Amino acid sequence: MSYKIAPSVLSADFGNLQRDIEMINNSEADWFHIDIMDGVFVPNISFGFSVLAPLKKHATKPLDVHLMIVNPDQYITRFAEAGAAVLSVHIEACNHLHRSIQAIKGAGMKAGVAVNPHTSVLNLEDVAGDMDLVCLMSVNPGFGGQSFIDNTYRKIEQLKNMQARLGVAFDIEIDGGVTLHNYKKLIDTGATVLVAGNTVFGSANPSATISALKQ
Ligand code: DX5
Ligand code: ZN
Repeated sequence: MSYKIAPSVLSADFGNLQRDIEMINNSEADWFHIDIMDGVFVPNISFGFSVLAPLKKHATKPLDVHLMIVNPDQYITRFAEAGAAVLSVHIEACNHLHRSIQAIKGAGMKAGVAVNPHTSVLNLEDVAGDMDLVCLMSVNPGFGGQSFIDNTYRKIEQLKNMQARLGVAFDIEIDGGVTLHNYKKLIDTGATVLVAGNTVFGSANPSATISALKQ
């Protein structure tokens, strides 16, 4: 079973950002996961375009950008210009999700839809054939280093059933609380992309931890 690992830059050392970017470049990681928080949609502020620019400059792997912001439609073109390969918007922040997905794809990116722990994935059924990725939040968004919410396994199963029933395909990305203890079960259940922040950057050897997550 092939799957991707996307280390979350949120947990990197921003005083040594180039070093941490190069660690990811030289590791077995597949994508850079980049969390954009506006302090309104979530109770935290991360970073914006001024940090994304050097990230794009040095990163040699695709940028998987996760927007935790209100009015994401307003910034779709800017994130395309900033070099995002995948752009995920929250279903809870979009009044016209179908339109947002089309706009992301129209700007040349893969379209992801992120869902909070309390949101049923069944709400995605009518855009299942349009989106490229579902970002399943397995913690309440806003912070790295939180504990994994077990109900996520059930949501992966529901998405797998939806794919089989409708004959559609999209990546199932797990975001939050991924560890060396639960990553195997997540892959066995049907996840295809694992985000890992604290597990990677909180370890003594981040590159070796990424390799361990790929075993
Ligand atoms: C949470 C972010 C996650 C976070 C994951 O709001 O969306 O991407 O960085 O961090 P860990 O892996 O530490 O839970
Ligand atoms: Zn994220």
